[in-house]
Amino acid sequence: MTEFSFELLATDGAARRGRVHTAHGAIDTPAFMPVGTAGTVKAMMPASVAATGAQIVLGNTYHLMLRPGAERVARLGGLHKFMNWPGPILTDSGGFQVMSLAKLRKMDADGVTFQSHHDGSKHRLTPESSMEIQRLLDADITMAFDECTPFPATHGQAEESMRLSMRWARRSKEAFVARDGYGLFGIVQGGVYPDLRAESAKALLEIGFEGYAVGGLAVGEGQDAMFSTLDVTTPLLPGDKPRYLMGVGRPSDIIGAVGRGIDMFDCVMPTRSGRTAQAFTRRGTVNLRNARHQDDPRPLEEDCPCPACRDHSRAYLHHLIRSEEILGPMLLTWHNIQAYQTLMAGLRSAIAEGRFTRFAAEAAALEEMGDI
Ligand code: GUN
Ligand code: ZN
Repeated sequence: MTEFSFELLATDGAARRGRVHTAHGAIDTPAFMPVGTAGTVKAMMPASVAATGAQIVLGNTYHLMLRPGAERVARLGGLHKFMNWPGPILTDSGGFQVMSLAKLRKMDADGVTFQSHHDGSKHRLTPESSMEIQRLLDADITMAFDECTPFPATHGQAEESMRLSMRWARRSKEAFVARDGYGLFGIVQGGVYPDLRAESAKALLEIGFEGYAVGGLAVGEGQDAMFSTLDVTTPLLPGDKPRYLMGVGRPSDIIGAVGRGIDMFDCVMPTRSGRTAQAFTRRGTVNLRNARHQDDPRPLEEDCPCPACRDHSRAYLHHLIRSEEILGPMLLTWHNIQAYQTLMAGLRSAIAEGRFTRFAAEAAALEEMGDI
């Protein structure tokens, strides 16, 4: 049986090229995890997700506990079998989604009570129940139950929220059932305050996790504050464990965070944007709804191996979007996930070959030029 482990294969400055080993396979890092909230990466077949080079997908405790229910998923053989994704799965722990989606939320020191956004039914999540749900789902990587501190928050608010998350992190660790190939990640909180990030990192290191996430970012603080926070946080995390920046981001956010020592990312941006006609290219974002594409026979992006670019013109993609054809969101989602995976593969090669800085500068220059 595989042990859950992290291999550091190369470094270039603070950037790392590594590999995470899990019960359901390996993940080459830096890695981007497409979001499969409700047991599906929206508009994509699992084999299509894998064809882009993605090796791990993310699932959500909050959504899956409400529908179809974690016990049902467990009875049906776990989330891998249920959604036909044989590779690694990471699940978020639920608190973040409760705060953004649920109705009538009530937080206390023990956990959070809320009403389902589907039918108003009442539910509760605690560190212990979140660990149990993620175990029933059979997540290779379980996330500690935390509170994502909102932005802006005063130092006092961020401190109180971070300390609550650290108490919940300890309870998460105690409730997590260790199994070969399965890991639990702690989540650093503390808002944009360096002293609180340091206290949080120290608390998590004392508890001990298989990986460390940085939470509470990309919540409105802006890229400069996010990067400054990473500058003071990632150096405090152990070098021999994977680091995951939650909910990030745009390509330039990912490149900047990789340069600051982050190994894993997830974000709804490529999938959500794909469903609203926004495509990510090396030259920035392109809105396929725009009339300038209606007679354009060129592919969305030269050299992209995805079916949207390989088999179709910008004019056709524009037509699908204007006609509200379901193939439009399907093709653009595929392209966007491919674009993110192509970026991650480029980052991995650049780090391995010691040319990360040049890669980052070239990516920024290309994006700056804009679409032509
Ligand atoms: N997703 C984005 N940010 C966060 C965070 O701070 N905590 C959790 N659990 N999920 C997130
Ligand atoms: Zn493409």
